[in-house]
Amino acid sequence: MRKNIVAGNWKMNKTFPEAQELMFQLLEYKKHNTVNCEIAVAPPTLYLLMARNVFDAEDIKVMAQDMSAHSSGAYTGEISAEMLLSVHADGSIIGHSERRLYHGETDENCALKIKAALDNGLTPIYCNGENLDQRKAGQHLEVVKLQTETALFGLTADEIKKVVIAYEPVWAIGTGETATPEQAQEIHKFIRSFIAGKYGDEVADEISILYGGSVKPDNAKEIFAQPDVDGGLIGGAALDIADFSKIIEAFN
Ligand code: 13P
Repeated sequence: MRKNIVAGNWKMNKTFPEAQELMFQLLEYKKHNTVNCEIAVAPPTLYLLMARNVFDAEDIKVMAQDMSAHSSGAYTGEISAEMLLSVHADGSIIGHSERRLYHGETDENCALKIKAALDNGLTPIYCNGENLDQRKAGQHLEVVKLQTETALFGLTADEIKKVVIAYEPVWAIGTGETATPEQAQEIHKFIRSFIAGKYGDEVADEISILYGGSVKPDNAKEIFAQPDVDGGLIGGAALDIADFSKIIEAFN
């Protein structure tokens, strides 16, 4: 059975002491509260080792925000799957729309990164989602279909089961505008049935599909209640323990 997951993507936020403080707040929260979902945190790369050390005690998953498809070599500024493993990270976000927009990430590139992550026992959180123009033109299903097919359909059934998908409509990221629960459900169900068409229902039912885009304490419950929404990838609201913990509690 697939897992419910609340993951925080910290993006390029927090200095070292600020990051440390937030990690300890989350650790304390997890220690003293009943939590009915998996919690994951993707801090800036620089803080991954600290996150691993802090979160080990409470089984909070530690993710990178991106990783290279290459295993090692002359790739300045990049980090490999092997490096992530060596600091005991659990996985990496791959294909976030900000990486696509500012760093030329493509679906093809994501396919290679996802394979590299899986080959090293890491969990990829693969992000897809349409932009505003595509949504207005009614192309959202088509866009997400292509992104899913290109990045994931080279995998075996056993491999794709280990992927987490995050549907993040670009128009809802950091804008305060959220997909309605019905819009989220429509796409999540579509992604799941598209995967089922190739790999079968049993495989598709194993895959956690998270929603991302302006999830806040006041809308999380309604979005997570949708049958094909298995949690969230949270940006802004993951930077504050009060907000992030309320979103986690949407599963209580
Ligand atoms: P916001 O929650 O700030 O809209 O960001 C969503 C996101 O991009 C998570 O990866």
